[in-house]
Amino acid sequence: MGSMARKNVEGTPRRSVGGTRDAKAGSPDDANPGGVRSAAPFVPVTSSVRTLAAAAHACRGCDLYKTATQVVFGSGPKGARVMFVGEQPGDQEDRQGAPFVGPAGALLDKALEDAGIPRDQVYVTNAVKHFKWEPRGKRRIHKKPRASEIKACRPWLEAELRAVKPAVVVCLGATAAQAVFGSQFKLMRQRGHVLPAPLAPQAVATIHPSSVLRAPDSEGRRTAYEMLVADLEVVAKALRGR
Ligand code: URA
Repeated sequence: MGSMARKNVEGTPRRSVGGTRDAKAGSPDDANPGGVRSAAPFVPVTSSVRTLAAAAHACRGCDLYKTATQVVFGSGPKGARVMFVGEQPGDQEDRQGAPFVGPAGALLDKALEDAGIPRDQVYVTNAVKHFKWEPRGKRRIHKKPRASEIKACRPWLEAELRAVKPAVVVCLGATAAQAVFGSQFKLMRQRGHVLPAPLAPQAVATIHPSSVLRAPDSEGRRTAYEMLVADLEVVAKALRGR
């Protein structure tokens, strides 16, 4: 969990949000070359996901808000026992304002069902809360977030973990795994095991559903999907306490 002192009143941000000074605070690329960006000043002290989600709309902790349609905060039931962490919202998520509602989300839903994890007991979120993209013709193509953007967004993930207190955190793909376990984490070597992590007592990393969709042929897709479901079965077992 974050070590930053949390002195302010429940539900209030540490500093005023949305103002010009906040937008520029720590900006490494314009007002403050070499500075470090962080969402921390925008994260209220609260155990309410709804309050966190509302505050996230004003986040200027990095520059991704400038090109995204809206912030895409995590969602799921209060008291969810498992939290899934993806990389960042995709094109559909950016338009709809909810995580995992596009093709990767549909595949995740199917894999959850096949692994025996009830979808309505799952909280889903992302390591980075804004869609990062580049234009290709008329399309917006996913662009991998930089380490500095993942780090800047981490206070939101820490706050979600404090609010939801899941028994198990599941990292979908290398970006989420490195956000949760640290930059030395090797996804293909360490996936599918219940491991302790700095942010959670039990965490499991697996491949991202998008990597199943991106596999070059149907055989590759089948193999990758089976890998995903096998790892989610490890999660299901951990949730049953075995
Ligand atoms: N991919 C992700 O990592 N997250 C989403 O919300 C959608 C696609």
